[in-house]
Amino acid sequence: MSSFRNSTVYQIYIKSYCDSNGDGIGDLNGIRSKLDYLQSLGIDYVWITPFFKSPMNDNGYDIADYFSVNPMFGTMDDAEALIKEANEHGIGLMFDMVFNHTSTDHEWFQKALAGDPKYMDYYIFRDPVDGHAPTNWVSKFGGNAWEYVPALGKYYLHLFDVSQADLNWENPAVREELKNVIRFWKEKGVRGFRFDVVNLISKPDVLEDDFIGDGRRFYTDGPRIHQHIKELVNDTGIADMMTVGEMSSTSLDNCLRYANPIEKELKMVFSFHHLKVDYKGGEKWALMDPDFKALRDLFCKWQEGMQAGGAWNALFWCNHDQPRAVSRFGDDRNYWKESAKMLAVLIHMMRGTPYIYQGEEIGMTNAGYTSIDQYQDVESTNYFSILCGEGKTPEEALHIIGERSRDNGRTPMQWDSSEQAGFTTGTPWLSIPANHTYINVETEEKDEDSILAFYKKLVQLRKDMEIIADGDIRFLETCTPDVIAYERTLGDEKLSVYCNLKGTELAADGMPEGEILVCNYGQAGAKGVLRPFEARVIKA
Ligand code: NOJ
Repeated sequence: MSSFRNSTVYQIYIKSYCDSNGDGIGDLNGIRSKLDYLQSLGIDYVWITPFFKSPMNDNGYDIADYFSVNPMFGTMDDAEALIKEANEHGIGLMFDMVFNHTSTDHEWFQKALAGDPKYMDYYIFRDPVDGHAPTNWVSKFGGNAWEYVPALGKYYLHLFDVSQADLNWENPAVREELKNVIRFWKEKGVRGFRFDVVNLISKPDVLEDDFIGDGRRFYTDGPRIHQHIKELVNDTGIADMMTVGEMSSTSLDNCLRYANPIEKELKMVFSFHHLKVDYKGGEKWALMDPDFKALRDLFCKWQEGMQAGGAWNALFWCNHDQPRAVSRFGDDRNYWKESAKMLAVLIHMMRGTPYIYQGEEIGMTNAGYTSIDQYQDVESTNYFSILCGEGKTPEEALHIIGERSRDNGRTPMQWDSSEQAGFTTGTPWLSIPANHTYINVETEEKDEDSILAFYKKLVQLRKDMEIIADGDIRFLETCTPDVIAYERTLGDEKLSVYCNLKGTELAADGMPEGEILVCNYGQAGAKGVLRPFEARVIKA
């Protein structure tokens, strides 16, 4: 069995985890102070979001120097001490490699702007076409994906913010520069890497307008993507390390290659289709209730499909780009604890490697902000203007942002019930939700029935039971789309997993009886019926 199969990864959004120096911003030494806590969760790896030099327009995903630590987060000595101490705690660190783009503050881009042809070829510069942008592609953060530089008479491509210029992966010098980044951090003792939007790095030779979409079909899983990933992994010697690629709008066919050991690309992939089941018409900024039939079918497709092709999934609900799962798919008011635990069971019993996003393990909820001024994220503020420009009232736009903003997942970690939730002694960079008085680590550590205790149990079960780490998976038909069920098998052993996604009692025809391995209610319920948001794992 490969080691990562029974592992669990924990994600830290550094800016919001723990502030050690009272400036209101989480930092490396804050993470160091929480290593005992992280060890107590039983997790194996910690992925830390970028803490490198950056103007922070996209909170660190706009890197200005891959080799230096942003002073806001600490020093190189702090980073080295963190790597060493994490290893001593039995925790491997995974650093976040943002290789699709750099900040426009990066020295390479600054030289390109000054007209240096060597560095202009590090990016994707194109001449205007008929006096306007080279293509009609839309930036992921809104607006056209090209920015004009008058001094050069050319446009550069930015699939994200205007301050995040896309790198030209067709230039071998760029690929070498990026390999050196991996070598540098690997040398320092980092045990894995997360690759940001890595399936967007290979752009076609000819860039053309998209008359049926926003341009993504031309550059997603692009023409030389597998070749580029293989070269990066091979030349840096990371094939045996823990690696995960963030795959934007990807396809199963491509993921079967990205995450299949035979291909020697990555260990696993994040795909996001299951997190679009509440996008009306596939549109992030159009609200609708989650379609659980679609959710079930997507889980089935990706779980069974990746298994059939010998590839491996990363399992997750939450990250720093997503609203909180308990607010989105559960009920954070009437069934906060039950629904948070049910959502945990649903993915932690699957085939793949679970990722716990900071605060998910205590059931943190959406931010609950009441004014647009409380939001900081560039995407949220851009879209507030776009939605208002489209004719929504400010109240309607605020409601949509409240449901969809990435800041929902970025509020400071709730360590205790004190005024700043134990996150900082200063003023937090992003407001702390009022519910930290009862949703916090300190309170839950004292409660055997807490969401935190439940997560620890799930993490441990994956280590103790080979069937969870390595068994086969098969999705089951249920009599309602609101009950998702699957079974895991290994030799003669079988586990049946049944989850009720609704806040009402539902029939679960065919649910076997047997020893209950996990349940989010204290006592076993009735035969063939699931209570609101009930999850049952049955040995049968
Ligand atoms: C994906 C990251 O998770 C997100 O936070 C970031 O804004 C984009 N990539 C651009 O780097």
